[in-house]
Amino acid sequence: MANPNEVLTPKLTPAQFNRLGQYIHTNYGIQMPESKKVLLEGRLQKRLKANKLENFTEYIEFLFSNEGKTRELQHFIDAVSTNKTDFYREPHHFKFLTEEYLPEFARSNSRIKIWSAAASSGEEIYTLAIELREFMEEHKGFSYEILGTDISAEILQRAAKGIYEEKRVEIIPLHIKRKYLLKSKDRNNKTVKVSRILQQNIRLKTLNLMGSLAGIPNDFDIIFCRNVLIYFNRKVQEKVINALCTKLKPGGFIFLGHSESITGITAPLKQIAPTIYKYTS
Ligand SMILES: C[S@@+](CC[C@H](N)C(=O)[O-])C[C@H]1O[C@@H](n2cnc3c(N)ncnc32)[C@H](O)[C@@H]1O
Repeated sequence: MANPNEVLTPKLTPAQFNRLGQYIHTNYGIQMPESKKVLLEGRLQKRLKANKLENFTEYIEFLFSNEGKTRELQHFIDAVSTNKTDFYREPHHFKFLTEEYLPEFARSNSRIKIWSAAASSGEEIYTLAIELREFMEEHKGFSYEILGTDISAEILQRAAKGIYEEKRVEIIPLHIKRKYLLKSKDRNNKTVKVSRILQQNIRLKTLNLMGSLAGIPNDFDIIFCRNVLIYFNRKVQEKVINALCTKLKPGGFIFLGHSESITGITAPLKQIAPTIYKYTS
């Protein structure tokens, strides 16, 4: 027998899940198969609570209202996106960058422009900044610019803060940590903050890769677009990859995530190493 005091957790009906799934796919490219229903439901239950709404009928009505579009849509996007990332994730990319790409590049260039197109909470851009700072020490006069974008404003706020739990930076060599990460003065606070110097030359911006890229410069040397295409279907991947190509300098590079490839996609790219592609136009 049901307990009359029990608070029932709101559930998404199949029709509601389909409606939200369609919306997410059409607007953000992210696929929402049936297997993601429980995940989406769980994440959105928090949004119901935050908005003091009783059920998903009320939430959906609010989300698509004019008020909801200005007040809730960004929170909805934050809840929908999966932000898993790490410092030095897929280390072969950074090895390639510092050992093969940069020495050659610096022969004829003094400034590199890199775009991290799904920057998440910032670990990717700060790993890049560390590697580029280290390279600069050996190559006086060399400099860099990093643009970090992501669809989630909330996750970019975390990137801007640059504060990470100590266990998340364990992978970084000690001498590098000492140089670029600041420990909290409070011994009980097990976090570090990236140094001010590491935050220089970095610009962050909210951006949907499915939307217009008009505000993005078109002279990048390298684009990191890692571990975001996996959420898209082939058609969307092709659209995004080709849009990214228009933002590269001739001969520029795109780095994809470990399980992503351009197999079956028509794009002006040539693979030169696993998950590393050169713009050939
Ligand atoms: C799994 S994280 C990858 C982070 C980092 N690039 C890495 O490889 O560690 C994927 C990121 O893509 C973002 N994302 C998802 N859909 C997007 C879209 N349509 N436009 C821009 N960013 C998107 C998510 O918010 C999330 O932060």
